[in-house]
Amino acid sequence: MPEPPHRRRAHARSSDLERYAGLFAARTQVMRSSAMRDLMAVTARPEVISLAGGLPDTSTFPPQTFAAQMTRIAQESAAEALQYGPTEGFRETVDCIIEVMGAEGMLPDPEDVIVTTGGQQAIDLLCKTLVDPGDAVICEAPTYPGAIPVFCSYEAETIQVECDVDGMRIDRLEEVLERLDGEGRRPKFVYSVPTFQNPAGVTMSLERRRRLVELARSRELLVVEDNPYGLLRFGGEALPPLYQLDGGDFVIYIGTFSKILSPGIRLGWAVAPPPVMDKVVLGKQAADLCTSTLTQYFVREYFRDGNWREYVESLAEIYRSRRDAMVDALSRYFPSQATWTEPNGGLFIWATLPSYIDTGDLLAKALREDVAFVPGQAAYVDGSGRNSMRLNFSAGNEDEIREGIRRIGKVIGEQVELYGALTNSASSSAPAQAKESDMDSPGLPRPGVAETKRDGGDVLPFRKAGGA
Ligand SMILES: Cc1ncc(COP(=O)(O)O)c(C=O)c1O
Repeated sequence: MPEPPHRRRAHARSSDLERYAGLFAARTQVMRSSAMRDLMAVTARPEVISLAGGLPDTSTFPPQTFAAQMTRIAQESAAEALQYGPTEGFRETVDCIIEVMGAEGMLPDPEDVIVTTGGQQAIDLLCKTLVDPGDAVICEAPTYPGAIPVFCSYEAETIQVECDVDGMRIDRLEEVLERLDGEGRRPKFVYSVPTFQNPAGVTMSLERRRRLVELARSRELLVVEDNPYGLLRFGGEALPPLYQLDGGDFVIYIGTFSKILSPGIRLGWAVAPPPVMDKVVLGKQAADLCTSTLTQYFVREYFRDGNWREYVESLAEIYRSRRDAMVDALSRYFPSQATWTEPNGGLFIWATLPSYIDTGDLLAKALREDVAFVPGQAAYVDGSGRNSMRLNFSAGNEDEIREGIRRIGKVIGEQVELYGALTNSASSSAPAQAKESDMDSPGLPRPGVAETKRDGGDVLPFRKAGGA
């Protein structure tokens, strides 16, 4: 009798895999797993403090509101809510999207909007529409780790352009564009998360936004602006989205309800000029016919109450104090050579460690201390970023964040000490947590560290660029 499928999976060996290998599409050779997805399996253990995910704190959403809205849907429109819907999404959902984009100063034509199954699907559909194997796609270095598996699936050549505290370096982008010109190649698009970037937490300056949009318009270059975090601002002045500066000719926009309401409802969107949108709609028909009707009805009900902005503001306030707790803990527990960003919004801090530390190895040690982060390498296609890490400050409370950073600081401290012993280097590289005196003065940033890192609102995560 054949074994039940779950037993077969447990016993699968490479010889079993060979049986299917001849059937795999060539693209599976270059498909990559998302580092965060892999980590989620490990961090599901309740004793693990995870600073790895990109999870908004959904426990802040009032259960009574959720219950009341779902009850209203059940009572007033159960049959419709349980039915298929249009591929483009319901007009009522698009109206909510227009409202959300309006809150950041954008005014898209409702006809240019498609409702997608999360912003992630929008990235996928745009690649499906635009990318052939070998095509060049340009993105930031580091970039959103979840975009890399998509670019790989469509067999793009992903070219990363250095970021600093002011976001993507446009001078470096121009160099890449000129090189591609010389090779007779036209990149399919530039993918950017310009505001409170995932993973680095940095925001593209206004000057660079203008230059990027000018480049897009003068070269007829498509820019994909992915903006899940723009409304989660707790400091600094709001900057105009690229979409607003361009008006929607060359900037394609991706948004999502995941971080301002819930990732569980899997609702995002894309805004694109009509010729691109027509193809995206065909791509979505093939992918999943339509986005969940039920969750679109939920959003419609939720927006009807008119309180969505207050909820987003309350989230930003919560994340502000968690960001503060993380920055404070980093000052206390990370070694003096470490640097990190201090974002004015979003969910992430990016920390850079001494170059001899590999955060992939460090993660294995950190997991033994029941704490997790995303190693920086996940945000690069070429194996760079080995001495950096992404730290999330939205999912856990302040105590968990402090304890998580203390545990990571401890394993870094061990590495620093080991390196010091092997190289006989001075003990000044010891992490803050190793020093008794610092433990006695909670909350005090160590002198000399904070000043060297601050640059306006942000902190130098990478080399400060001379160019724009
Ligand atoms: C930059 C960016 N784009 C897209 C996504 C995907 O979001 P979702 O599919 O939940 O809308 C995320 C999630 O973390 C993100 O950070």
